Order: sequence, then C-alpha cells, then structure tokens
Amino acid sequence: MAEEDQELLHLFLVMEKGMASSRDRSEAFFSYLEKMFSVSLKEMEAFINGFHSEMKKGLSGAESSLKMIPCFVDRPTGSERGDFLALDLGGTNLRVLAVTLDGKRSSTISATHKFVIPKEKMQGTGVVLFDYIAHCIDLFLTEYQMDRGKNYDLAFTFSFPVEQMGVASGNLITWTKGFTATGVRGRDVMVLLREALRRNHIQCINLTALANDTVGTLAAGGYVDPACDLGVIMGTGTNACYRERIGRIGRVKSAYDGEYMIVNLEWGNFDGVARTFYDRILDQNSVNPGAMYLEKMVSGMYLGELARIVLLDLIKRDLILVNEPTAGACFTEKRSFTTEDMSRFEGDTGEGLEKIASFFREKGIPKVPFHERKKIKHLCSILSRRAAGLGAAAITAVLSWMDPQLDRGHTVAVDGTLFEKYPGFKAGMRHVFKSLLGDKAEKIALVHTKDGSGKGAAIIAAVAAAVRSPKK
Ligand code: BGC
Repeated sequence: MAEEDQELLHLFLVMEKGMASSRDRSEAFFSYLEKMFSVSLKEMEAFINGFHSEMKKGLSGAESSLKMIPCFVDRPTGSERGDFLALDLGGTNLRVLAVTLDGKRSSTISATHKFVIPKEKMQGTGVVLFDYIAHCIDLFLTEYQMDRGKNYDLAFTFSFPVEQMGVASGNLITWTKGFTATGVRGRDVMVLLREALRRNHIQCINLTALANDTVGTLAAGGYVDPACDLGVIMGTGTNACYRERIGRIGRVKSAYDGEYMIVNLEWGNFDGVARTFYDRILDQNSVNPGAMYLEKMVSGMYLGELARIVLLDLIKRDLILVNEPTAGACFTEKRSFTTEDMSRFEGDTGEGLEKIASFFREKGIPKVPFHERKKIKHLCSILSRRAAGLGAAAITAVLSWMDPQLDRGHTVAVDGTLFEKYPGFKAGMRHVFKSLLGDKAEKIALVHTKDGSGKGAAIIAAVAAAVRSPKK
C-alpha cells in the first residue's frame, strides 16, 4: 500500500472505532475513498511535468515509459481522394470498411461489417488470429459482392504499440488490452497479415498503410479541420498521437521528406502517476502486470474491473450490501462488473435509481436499499472522475508541449466509447482543462471523430498511395 493510502486507512480505522452504526463507518470509508482517488491540481501539474520529461526522453530514443513512436506520415491536406478498404483491429471488435474520400475534406463509409473477436482468437496463436482476420475480410468481400479481379488498397488500423519502420510496416512491441496471441511480438504485423491473406487465397488486396487508431483519428480529424493536431482514443484502451517537428524527433534516423511527422505517444504506459492500493491489485491480476499504468486507471477495459475490486473490498469490510450474504459471491469473478455497468449506473438519473435496483435484482440481490444504490453510484463517479481528469491532464501535457503558452487554437480529435457514451466524462475533462488553464481552456476544441480510426486509416492509405505513385 502506498504510504499515503496507509495513512488514510489508519485515520479511517481510528475514526471507525468510535462509530456505532455500519452506516457511519460506510460514510467514513467513502470519504477515505474520495481522498484516495482524488488528484489535486498540484498533482496534475506534477503529472504534466513528468509527462514532458518522459516525452523528451522518448523522442530522443532513450528509455522512457512513453514510447514516442514515429509514424512516418504527416497530417493529410484534405485533398486526398479515392476508394479504400480499412481494417480496424482495436479492442473487442474487428471492423472492415470501404471508404471513399472525395478530395474535398469529406469522406463516406459505403460498406462496413463489425466482427466480434472471440477470446480464443485473441489469446491463441498469431496464426489463428491472423487467419481469423483474413476470414473476416473474405466474408466482407463476399457480402458486398466485391470484384475479386480488381485490386483494393487496404489500410490496417492496428491499435497496439508497434515500432514502425515505415508507413506500411511495423513490428509489434507488446500486446495490450487482453490480447496475448503468441508468435506476434517482434514481428511485422503487415507481413503476418499478408501471409494470412495468401494462406486464405485472397489475392485482391494491396496492403498500403499501417496505422495506430490514434493516428487514424488524427488523420480523420485533420482531413476536415486543418487546426487538428492531436488524436486521442478513450475507449477500451487509451492513447494519443500528435504532430511533431521532425527536428525534435531524435530517434528518426531514416530519410523523411517533410517538416512534421505524427508521433504515437503510447501514453497508456505512462508511469508517472500515483497508484492506489486498488490500482495495484488490478495490475497484479492483469495479463500484463507492471505495464500500462495510465491505461489501467483511465480506460474502459479496466474501469469496471477497478470498481469491482473496490466494491468487493467494501462488501468484505461489511460496509456495503451489508444484509446480503450472497453479495460477495456476485462480484468475485473477474469482470463481473463492467465499465458499461458503471456507465448505466451513472446514467441512472431517476429519482428511485431503478436501473441500479434492477441490475442488483438480476444478480439475485433484490433489496438493495436506496442509500446503498446511491453509494455505489457515487463509487462509480469517484473512479470515472479520476479517469476523465487524468485524460484531460494528459491532453494538456501534449498541447503544452506543442504550444507552451497555448497561443493558438487546437482541435483534438477524440474517439472511443468512454468519451462518446460515458455520462459526464467529457464534462469532467472540460472541468479539468478549466482548472489547469483558466480562460485558455477555450482554445481546446474536443471533437468527437466518430469512426476516425477506420476513415483515418483510409486517408493514410491515400497519402501512402500518393507517395508510391506521385502525380506527374
Ligand atoms: C494501445 C494503443 C492504442 C490504445 C487505444 C492501447 O492499449 O497500446 O496502441 O492506441 O490502446 O486503442
């Protein structure tokens, strides 16, 4: 337990001694939780300073918790055009899309199919995973009766840390978000995809570009808005990329024709943030302990799990669901409480908190008193507030790195279910911008860039295709 957590817990235990009712003890424990998960302005500022120093190290190629991966591409100009396929492998789903760019800052998705990735494909061998991807592409081509005699440029949005060698190649550094498929780490994922297409007799695809989802999101944002210089994902995982001056990216040694390049921060791995006792338990129980600390505090894959761990602790201490002997058993299984549940709880604005009641009824706990439902909703808000706050602090860190005085306006393209759907998440972020930056917070436009990763990858494919065959 961190020293500060220990102190707080001690305080709580001392207070608890003089408390007769379990309701008082529970109140006291909730104030303890509030303190434990709150991030003060001073801590946010320290977070930003720490972030800057990790960015600097990462850009120079030194050891850093921020990988700062050069992506060998810049923001689009808006004049890119053509028809492309995009393959989006991110969290729990795989999407195949057909995208048309009109060359006038507008794009349309003419076909799309979402496939669920079964756990055995995520956690089996790389061959099984990539064969499944090829199979999904095959189904898509058939569903939309695409002419297999033609050639289609396909952009692969691969939302994991990849060391890019160029715009169309990159080696997986490590899996995140619960993926563990073997034989992929250290390999070029474009080669693995090409081999899978060959094994599955799909010959009509040119693999044109490889992009992180944040890069796709920035490209999609930049295609419509030239002020967009930051792409952010707040969904199953979390990460960002931004435009950097080539002279500041010491780790790029190969030739690159351009003044700016997009850099993928892989900020989910940032480790300069204080973790609580509960964060540590979550980390130890994860498939990648010791890594992705920020992601584990901020993203949809983990928030619900963190809430479950706290909830279970509260139940064990007899501080919540006190008269329900079966309650503990309902939350012992990993992922028996999800971020979606949290989102539903926080979205329950009804006077009687009926949605929350019905959640517990379905779990076989029919009589959760109102004041306890309110408390559990409050627990969700404690965790989501911290997540939104840390997300906003990370965005502020990147913007102030690019533009220390925030002299110009910045459009931040954001995608991901947490940002899009979680009640109050965006407002929580805005609140932190205001606290950190005062009136300058107005310079930040957070724009939800729906389908950014898919559309944006197509835009990057267009940039790459243009480089391959420049106009005469
Ligand atoms: C991955 C990033 C990705 C982010 C959002 C993280 O787990 O490491 O590459 O951009 O999730 O999908």
